Amino acid sequence: MEEQAKGLLKRINEKKLEKNTKFLAVASGKGGVGKTNFAVNFSYILANDFNKKVLLIDADIGMANVHILVNVNTKKTLKDILNGEKIENIIFSTRGIDILPGFSGIDAINEVDDSSVLRFVQNLNDVSENYDYIIIDTAAGIDNKVISFIRASSKTYVITTPEPTAIMDAYALIKSMKKLYDYSDFKVVVNMAKSEEEGVDTFDRLKASINKFLNMDIKLAGILPATKNIQKTVKKKQIISEVYPSDKFVLQLKKIAAEELGEPPPPLKESFWEKVINFLKKD
Ligand SMILES: Nc1ncnc2c1ncn2[C@@H]1O[C@H](COP(=O)(O)OP(=O)(O)OP(=O)(O)O)[C@@H](O)[C@H]1O
Ligand SMILES: [Mg+2]
Repeated sequence: MEEQAKGLLKRINEKKLEKNTKFLAVASGKGGVGKTNFAVNFSYILANDFNKKVLLIDADIGMANVHILVNVNTKKTLKDILNGEKIENIIFSTRGIDILPGFSGIDAINEVDDSSVLRFVQNLNDVSENYDYIIIDTAAGIDNKVISFIRASSKTYVITTPEPTAIMDAYALIKSMKKLYDYSDFKVVVNMAKSEEEGVDTFDRLKASINKFLNMDIKLAGILPATKNIQKTVKKKQIISEVYPSDKFVLQLKKIAAEELGEPPPPLKESFWEKVINFLKKD
């Protein structure tokens, strides 16, 4: 493991990768708040409205569903990469987005150890320079794998809904990352808001706790309304941004994407891959 990691670090330093690639994680704490819908539609908008080269990684190991939302049957998944397959043979393209599909099942979760994740990282390293954005859809909760991807991203979009439990879990996620790793590059998305007012109120509550107890500030990325068109399209395995480009949800998401494009990546103390590897080495 140590030798493998050293070899990879050497390669990374030589290639000076990720100069132009932004790594953005999508996380939440609580499950079912809209991470995957956000990640898929955000990727779609960056690719199709803003002409960016995007790789969407389904990093929800054990409960993968990006490929279901985009209605593509995949024979090969992230699991094959962990078993030695080349990443180029796994990525598929649909609607202008490249997607690295995840996999599901309890056996799959058990198979994912540190060295297989490292191998995955090595493979991804070879393709990351082809992309403007790498969007990482993570699992609910705060396990080691989620943490390593958040920690390694230059920014994390934290998704919450107005429900107090979702706000609490978003707070818990941010608190853990701040306390354990001094990571604070978060932006908040309030999803499923019934009104602008409810969205602002949700953000204000989360922000107040963060300001008070974590001694840090946090910004609002945007408020995404609850919309029936999401459920409609999810059922039909369509992408709302493609089918209903004027839905309020989509228009709001376009604003978030436009703002993202205007933001330079924060200066990285360690590169994405160094962070992932150093984190894995600690275990
Ligand atoms: N803005 C919205 N309006 C209405 N329904 C929504 C909205 N966003 C998401 N949903 C619905 O919420 C459900 C969960 O969405 P999604 O799968 O994106 O959440 P998730 O956070 O990725 O879940 P998990 O934690 O299981 O990965 C879906 O059924 C989706 O249709
Ligand atoms: Mg999801």
